[in-house]
Amino acid sequence: MNFRNTLLIKDGHLHIGGADCVKLAEEFSTPLYVYDEAHIRTMMGVYRDCIEEFYGGNGRALYASKAFACEAIYAIADEEGLGVDVVSGGELYTALQAGFPPQKICMHGNNKLLHELCEALDAGVGRIVVDAASEADLLDAEAARRGMVQDVLIRINPGVEAHTHAYVQTATPDSKFGFSVANGSAEEMVTYILSKPHLRLRGFHCHIGSQIFEKQSFVLAAEKCLAFMRDMRDRHAFCCEELDLGGGFGIWYAEGDPARTVSAYREDLKALFGAVKAGCAAYGLPLPFLYLEPGRSIVGEAGITLYTVGTIKDIPGIRKYIAVDGGMFDNPRYCLYGSVYTALLANRADEAPTERVSIAGKCCESGDLIGVDINLPAAETGDILAIFSTGAYHYSMASNYNRNLVPPAILVKDGKAEYIVKPQTYDDLVRNDVLPARLKKRSL
Ligand code: LLP
Repeated sequence: MNFRNTLLIKDGHLHIGGADCVKLAEEFSTPLYVYDEAHIRTMMGVYRDCIEEFYGGNGRALYASKAFACEAIYAIADEEGLGVDVVSGGELYTALQAGFPPQKICMHGNNKLLHELCEALDAGVGRIVVDAASEADLLDAEAARRGMVQDVLIRINPGVEAHTHAYVQTATPDSKFGFSVANGSAEEMVTYILSKPHLRLRGFHCHIGSQIFEKQSFVLAAEKCLAFMRDMRDRHAFCCEELDLGGGFGIWYAEGDPARTVSAYREDLKALFGAVKAGCAAYGLPLPFLYLEPGRSIVGEAGITLYTVGTIKDIPGIRKYIAVDGGMFDNPRYCLYGSVYTALLANRADEAPTERVSIAGKCCESGDLIGVDINLPAAETGDILAIFSTGAYHYSMASNYNRNLVPPAILVKDGKAEYIVKPQTYDDLVRNDVLPARLKKRSL
């Protein structure tokens, strides 16, 4: 098991950020998302410092806030000197509520709604990544109405097949994202945007996918972007000042995944920046201001989820189900992608696994599992189960399915924990419900 940073076992209990997970479960109840602030800050620092050390500071890491968005994470990103990327009016609103500087916000999305574009313009976000011709029209018109010129990037699809789950590949020929370099639509968009008086084309953006380990995929994408930059200079005299290479760096979830250390990330980033520098030198291009958009690699391993074991069902010859007080409403990733996780009993953390079990949620469907074939000591009702690497795309993809409450999130620093997302209440569940008067008349 890859225990690193402040995740460790002491006196038989799992600890995170200096806090005993059993005590956290008692104090804050379960299910509970727990975040280690030191880990988040370390990973933000890795990106920030690598840009400084290996790329002369000529760039900025934008935390991809879809991985985990709440006011606290935007505040931490700001303190650590990062920008952020947002993909919806809701993420933008949350960032602004946290006082995040709009100039350091970049907005994405393959179908940004008119009101979202207007919100971005009104807030003064630094960059908007254009992903459709109709969006360029809308944005140009709205910027004109405001008497402003908006800085934009074009999302290009360089055509790189990254080795990851098909649902999170984004740069294959069949993709809803971006403009294909191969079929000429990216080039058309360059001339189209250059003709828009209220849009200032700064450069290009690409994102090849998520949970990727091969640095070669990132390097290849960068090389394809640079070749495109060269072509646009040669054919349209367009000087690309900025290049956004997206996110996607993989993290450790379970046995078989490479253990990702700080030095491993640093090496990958060094290789990537090296490829950009080499490409620019080869093509005689000025070095672009570089953006990266890491999400999962910043918050993924910083987070764990704590559950309490409830019912246990052993079906002889078939499998043993350990049910917890969470499920697909706080972690839909097994259902969506068949994701594999590592689990531990936080209150008996030094006991060796003795059996293979499936961890079931409490939702009313058989597919509501958090994992199958997980090695654990014989669990008992009341044990505290910890699942690792749940910091990215868990809270942000949680739902109220079956009217379960989305768990709260706490942030742990130097052994002290505090809420960064409060617990929901049943009142929250009915807050937006409307019972029309004619339905109230029914006889009870
Ligand atoms: N930039 C763009 C344009 C993206 O679409 C994404 C992720 C990122 C950056 C951040 O990628 P990261 O560094 O986190 O890999 N729900 C899926 C992941 C979807 C990723 C969507 N885009 C999951 O749970 O695995």
